[in-house]
Amino acid sequence: MSGALAGKRIVLGVSGGIAAYKAIDLARQLTLLGAEVQAVLTRSALAFVQPLSFEVLTGRTPISRMFPIEGASHPGDMPHISLTGHADLVVVAPATANLIGKFAGGIGDDFLSTLLLSARPPALVAPAMNPRMWASPAVQENVRKLKERGHFVMEPGVGRMARAEEGEGSGRMPEPEAILAEVLRFLAPPHDLAGMRLVVSAGPTRERWDAVRYLTNRSSGKMGYALAAAAAARGAEVTLVSGPAGLPGPPGLRTMRVESAAEMREAVLAAWKDAHAGIMAAAVSDYRPARATVHKQKKKEGPLTLTLERTADILAEMGKKKGKRLLVGFAAETGDLTKNAKDKLRRKGLDLIVANLVSGPEDAMGADSATAILIGASGEEEALPRLPKDALASAILDRLAEMWKTHKNYRKR
Ligand SMILES: Cc1cc2nc3c(=O)[nH]c(=O)nc-3n(C[C@H](O)[C@H](O)[C@H](O)COP(=O)(O)O)c2cc1C
Repeated sequence: MSGALAGKRIVLGVSGGIAAYKAIDLARQLTLLGAEVQAVLTRSALAFVQPLSFEVLTGRTPISRMFPIEGASHPGDMPHISLTGHADLVVVAPATANLIGKFAGGIGDDFLSTLLLSARPPALVAPAMNPRMWASPAVQENVRKLKERGHFVMEPGVGRMARAEEGEGSGRMPEPEAILAEVLRFLAPPHDLAGMRLVVSAGPTRERWDAVRYLTNRSSGKMGYALAAAAAARGAEVTLVSGPAGLPGPPGLRTMRVESAAEMREAVLAAWKDAHAGIMAAAVSDYRPARATVHKQKKKEGPLTLTLERTADILAEMGKKKGKRLLVGFAAETGDLTKNAKDKLRRKGLDLIVANLVSGPEDAMGADSATAILIGASGEEEALPRLPKDALASAILDRLAEMWKTHKNYRKR
């Protein structure tokens, strides 16, 4: 089967809400795009829709109970585990308040909720319920928990509910087309960075002061690696310049490993010459020991004084040699986030800056998720909720892709 989702395996969980009928159309559309869809229906879902509809549209018998075992591919197979092992994506649409609660609470009392216990994030969850149920603190807390674990919970639609007396409000299941767009974003990202040569920096730097000792920082490299991998998936030709991050080089791109700020400068500026755009996510040391010895320094009585000198400002140098290139920087701040980020944006001639807090509970450094504000060249701010770094990378690349679209003449370079 050809199509944007050819060969992709999707588990479609359907729980018991009025919107279950829309899941039939979603299953049809996913299958038409080439996905192998395994529908999983809760007992309550069976009160709203017939398994036969899914079976005919997907060519697979839906699973709707734990016992006796259904959907086993061979004797001894345990589909509640094996399905998520093989799936490219788990989608739950509609997701009832009950299902969301069980997913957040780690309860596995039927096939769908048990399967979700072994689903790798992100699972794509499309909530559907009465607006008052959606607004309840319990549901909101459960949604927050799922997001924190890296799952993607769509915003429910706003508007008239299934029945007029339910009134209007937020809680409608997002339309199948909107869910499909998210599935495509996860599994078949748009090629909106095609033709772009992009340099991404990531990780900390190490500034040696003797044979075995160095100064460094808490950066994990996760943000830069997520950006590089996602940009490559969106068609960019990526050079990733990485400080010592201890992460495997993402497939489909060139990873250059460096150690010090000076080495990072050399590699980044070399790649910058031919690049159309740069995203500088590395936490480059601002200072290095003025003197480094090749031998290990012996300990002596009394304190040791290290004199530090400034390292080169790579981002500022890139800004000076920018021409029509697009340049995205990061500001890691412990206070006055937007003000400091805006100053940096202006000073270094950036097109976009990603402002991150690096202290307290919102600390982005080393974490799997980050709370960021995106600030554009004209100072407009987009405050994002705390997001897994993959999702934050997508949001940053969406902005880069918008700028790239308007760079038509430049692209021919
Ligand atoms: C007519 C009807 C419609 C319902 N619609 C919804 C709904 O849209 N969202 C929801 O969260 N629960 C809805 N419920 C309640 C769920 O069906 C109920 O909580 C059930 O236990 C959910 O089971 P499940 O999550 O295992 O599918 C509805 C119940 C009825 C009787």
